[in-house]
Amino acid sequence: MLADQIGAERWPVFVLTKDRRVVGMTTATFTLPHLGWAEDEIAEPSVFLQTTVTDPGFAGGGLGVLIACWALDYAAVNGKLWTRRGVLTIGEENLGLVRYYQLQGWRVVRAISHPRKPGVTVWSLQRPAVPQSDLREFVRWQPV
Ligand SMILES: CC(C)(COP(=O)(O)OP(=O)(O)OC[C@H]1O[C@@H](n2cnc3c(N)ncnc32)[C@H](O)[C@@H]1OP(=O)(O)O)[C@@H](O)C(=O)NCCC(=O)NCCS
Repeated sequence: MLADQIGAERWPVFVLTKDRRVVGMTTATFTLPHLGWAEDEIAEPSVFLQTTVTDPGFAGGGLGVLIACWALDYAAVNGKLWTRRGVLTIGEENLGLVRYYQLQGWRVVRAISHPRKPGVTVWSLQRPAVPQSDLREFVRWQPV
């Protein structure tokens, strides 16, 4: 999935680098998928995060939180109201990730059964887009 997204124009991929090394990435689009979101929500201006991954060598270092803060800022400076993301869980698997996101301030909008994948739950999460001017002091944006 990740390999499909890289280089595809409709999947803007953003990477987080440290000393020229990629330590995290996410896709961030201005369109929401229909899976997990209602038509009125899709009509609201938002940034949708997918395929957020951090280097396991930095686990516990908060890089995912940094990416989330960047996304709140990215949404705000682009005039969007929300930053949104989805999480898929299978039974108990991955529920820790939903709890982790909730602790960061992501609100669960809904959780639905996947219409085509038995046993899979689709979680829709959102946070209001808020400028993060402090972040810009230590994370530099740079087009590649
Ligand atoms: C999800 C992710 C981007 C978060 O990055 P981060 O904020 O830097 O957080 P960490 O990697 O330090 O993980 C922090 C906590 O997240 C939770 N967590 C992360 N991935 C999880 C998963 N797949 N299932 C359950 N819990 C998970 C754990 O509670 C973990 O705490 P622990 O240290 O006690 O294990 C990163 O863990 C990752 O790349 N995971 C694999 C890919 C993935 O699942 N992406 C999510 C797509 S929605």
